[in-house]
Amino acid sequence: MQASVEHQCDVLIIGSGAAGLSLALKLAEHCQVIVLSKSDISEGSTKYAQGGIAAVFDEEDSIESHVEDTLEAGAGLCNREAVHFTASRAKECMQWLIKFGMPFDQISSSPNETSHTEARFHLTREGGHSHRRILHSADATGAAVQLTLVEAVKHHPNIHLFQRYNAVDLIKSQQDSNVIIGAYVWNRKRESVEVIRSRFVALATGGASKVYQYTSNPDVSSGDGIAMAWRVGCRVANMEFNQFHPTCLYHPEARNFLITEALRGEGAKLCHADGTPFMQRFDERGDLAPRDIVARAIDFEMKRLGADCMYLDISHKPSDFIVKHFPNIYRKCRSLGIDITQQAIPVVPAAHYSCGGVVTDFSAKTDLDNLYAIGEVAYTGLHGANRMASNSLLECIVFAHSAADHIIQRLAEKRTIEPINAWDESQVSNSDEEVIIQHNWHELRLFMWDYVGIVRTNKRLERAQHRIALLKQEVDEYYSHFRVSNNLLELRNLLTVADLIVRCAQERKESRGLHYNLDYPDLLENSSPTIISGK
Ligand code: FAD
Ligand code: SIN
Repeated sequence: MQASVEHQCDVLIIGSGAAGLSLALKLAEHCQVIVLSKSDISEGSTKYAQGGIAAVFDEEDSIESHVEDTLEAGAGLCNREAVHFTASRAKECMQWLIKFGMPFDQISSSPNETSHTEARFHLTREGGHSHRRILHSADATGAAVQLTLVEAVKHHPNIHLFQRYNAVDLIKSQQDSNVIIGAYVWNRKRESVEVIRSRFVALATGGASKVYQYTSNPDVSSGDGIAMAWRVGCRVANMEFNQFHPTCLYHPEARNFLITEALRGEGAKLCHADGTPFMQRFDERGDLAPRDIVARAIDFEMKRLGADCMYLDISHKPSDFIVKHFPNIYRKCRSLGIDITQQAIPVVPAAHYSCGGVVTDFSAKTDLDNLYAIGEVAYTGLHGANRMASNSLLECIVFAHSAADHIIQRLAEKRTIEPINAWDESQVSNSDEEVIIQHNWHELRLFMWDYVGIVRTNKRLERAQHRIALLKQEVDEYYSHFRVSNNLLELRNLLTVADLIVRCAQERKESRGLHYNLDYPDLLENSSPTIISGK
């Protein structure tokens, strides 16, 4: 064994998006926290969120209505209790965020009005919501959330930010294999693996949509938390329900750029190249049908017409309205030669959100003692077979708060310190064949897109499974012989996630929500979440 650097804290939070930073802020008054991010602190899906955060602020709206809409979008697989738990805490969580300076758009009021009344927020609409209930910061809500949280944690004396550190694996107690006592982490600058010993560990690593060739997600979304939790024996659920966002910009120079659903909420229409609208043919809610339906409709039309993309048109709205509400999208498209006030935007679906994840309860506890999971990495039962737009940033904050409450109650418990084995590198050398990693990366993401994408069949799933098994064997061998690198760690995790997606998809003998299998096109009468065990 080689000696390695060891750090200590009360709570190790792996991930610095909305979930991780909200948890850090709630805990920091009570204990010492380390927050890990594998890139810069701000890089993650949170920063790119556009539409906003769902919360009942309108007097005409109600928590019951938010609950019912979420259940409807979730296609029969949401846990009603989890939905109610989340929706009923939304307002309080948003007020918490606003206290830190979150600049949600407000309805302009006369100067005399503002000093006497509560701020009135501008609420927008998105697919599946029967009311206007999306708080937002123009069309760049996530960037504002991330900035607000980063500013709040940056100088806190009890929050220690470890940037450019990859969590590699969780560490189990040698006395009780149901207890987590820390993590091995790879320091990217020093290129060495270190140990973080902590009383509690929270996974806040975000989603896994990078397992697909086309995705709205940033590079860090490689499912590391799901894979790490699976390796130590946690249950994972509903991995077959990967959400495809219907409208990502289709342009050779723009990778991953989302065109928010709020555009459709404000009247934009999906159409063919000649301007013919088509959504009404697929669902009576038209352009505001839930995302799974819209994504499948676009996929269907593209395949039927042999087209590279469909179009989203908001140009019938006044130009100043478009520029005021969607400044970010206006600027981005303009820079690529598309004037959205005058012409339709070319769009395609892309992998966007992992509805499944590590199974947790309402305190965000996983199956293992001292291990929590919050945000997109978790499966709380909120989203069911299809997440309703703008419910995920909400889930990050609601469950960060409930995890914090639970951890704070447990801080006084006695703990024993036990030895942790240092990372053993005595048998490995530097990689001499990085090309294998690169090649396998591309292969995996391409066949996941082709075989395990918006429309699946039994044969395609079998093909994918076969290829995953081959790649896993190759990568496992590589992992045991060579020093770790970011690409190797991510590929190893993505292969685990891909395997879990395919296994869950094969277990589901119906088409429901985001999972559509041509061999089982119907809904089963009795359906339940797909839960698989890591043990
Ligand atoms: P993230 O914000 O993704 O953060 C993950 C963190 O984990 C990062 O800090 C990353 O570095 C770190 N990490 C990952 N693996 C490791 C590792 N091995 N070691 C160390 N650190 C690690 N949701 C809404 O509710 N409303 C929206 O309008 C909306 N719009 C969206 C638009 C886009 C383009 C995208 C991609 C998503 C959108 N979503 C939206 C979904 C929402 O943004 C995400 O679900 C949410 O931000 C996830 O937050 P998180 O904290 O769980 O993870
Ligand atoms: C969007 O703005 O369309 C994304 C909203 C979400 O994913 O919740």
